[in-house]
Amino acid sequence: GKIVLAYSGGLDTSICIPLLKEHYGYDEVVTVVVDVGQPAHEIEEGSKKGERLADRHYTVDAKEAFVREHIFRAIKANGSYEGYPMGTALARPLIAEEIVAVAKKEGATAIAHGCTGKGNDQLRFDFIFRANGFEVVAPIREMNLAREWEIEYAEQHGVPVPVKKEKPWSIDENFWSRSIEGGKLEDPAYHPPEEIYAWTVSPQDAPAEPETITIGFEQGVPVSLNGKRMEGADLILELNAIAGRHGVGRNDMVEDRILGLKARENYEHPAATVILTAHRDLERLVLTRGELSFKHIVDEKWSELAYMGLVHEPLYAALNAFIDTTQERVTGSVDCVLFKGSVHVTGRSSPMALYSSDLVSFDSHTIDQCDAVGVSKYFGMQARLLKQIRKE
Ligand code: ARG
Ligand code: SIN
Repeated sequence: GKIVLAYSGGLDTSICIPLLKEHYGYDEVVTVVVDVGQPAHEIEEGSKKGERLADRHYTVDAKEAFVREHIFRAIKANGSYEGYPMGTALARPLIAEEIVAVAKKEGATAIAHGCTGKGNDQLRFDFIFRANGFEVVAPIREMNLAREWEIEYAEQHGVPVPVKKEKPWSIDENFWSRSIEGGKLEDPAYHPPEEIYAWTVSPQDAPAEPETITIGFEQGVPVSLNGKRMEGADLILELNAIAGRHGVGRNDMVEDRILGLKARENYEHPAATVILTAHRDLERLVLTRGELSFKHIVDEKWSELAYMGLVHEPLYAALNAFIDTTQERVTGSVDCVLFKGSVHVTGRSSPMALYSSDLVSFDSHTIDQCDAVGVSKYFGMQARLLKQIRKE
């Protein structure tokens, strides 16, 4: 039979090619690399390797869809799981759907991936593959494979192994975030060395001068940077560079994985940190108090589903409908100051602002302050009554 393999070019997915033939008996393996903004050289190398090692190879460009459908959605939802903006998680359902499309075109009945049985990615992928009626094959998980065995097997099967025998960390990178995990970093007490970072400088080495930037939003999504209209991907890449220079967006955390395992994770996501900070601030200017407090709960629930990759859960669509309604008014611009690892909002404005300087100002007379006396007489009435009853 024929099987389609979710491919990255890394060691795990590469040894899956001979394993699917030798151990699982497939006679045709089709590899698919899906581009969601990984480094260009990674896509190139993955594609070349797939072409050489597999029977047929596809490289799918999903960059535009990733930004417009997944990252933009996450911005509207202030998407954050325990403080992690979820670059890896957001990309998985899209990657999986692109692989399903190839599998359908190829007439395959099974899809394989190289995820371990300990992480989140296996569940995110499996969910989409199964939802589309495909059988799932996961050699690393099913054969309980460990690194050393994999390297030996790779060498025996002409699968190139990264020169540095074993890369000290496992890295997953796309437009929205870069995650670094594994090796010594697994110990939550271990201090991460500077070399794990690629997008950010250390805050102490950041410029001594703060930099102010302006982000323009329309209906909840960023559309301009410093007054210049930009496409989502370009805006994110440029903001990653600017904020990264100021050491903004490093994140060293202990994360609760779907299975319940706690894992030490290191992330960098300068653009995500700045955009989410600015977006949340703009919402405070334009949404009502009721919308804000309820949306806080919705955002939290949305983030949980997004983290788990459960994008076909009906609740996900229902939450998105609520979020989209609120975002119609999230239009305006936000000024942020970047300085030595931090981002602060220093100004915000919107044509939809629910703000009236006339009403709130210390210096105006539009409101007769005496009106508040009547409100005050009723305010907290039930609690006051109870206090009285208890005394009697
Ligand atoms: N813990 C993060 C997540 O679940 C990052 C996982 C990184 N994935 C990877 N294949 N290296 O989203
Ligand atoms: C893996 O375990 O395959 C990668 C990490 C993750 O899925 O969280």
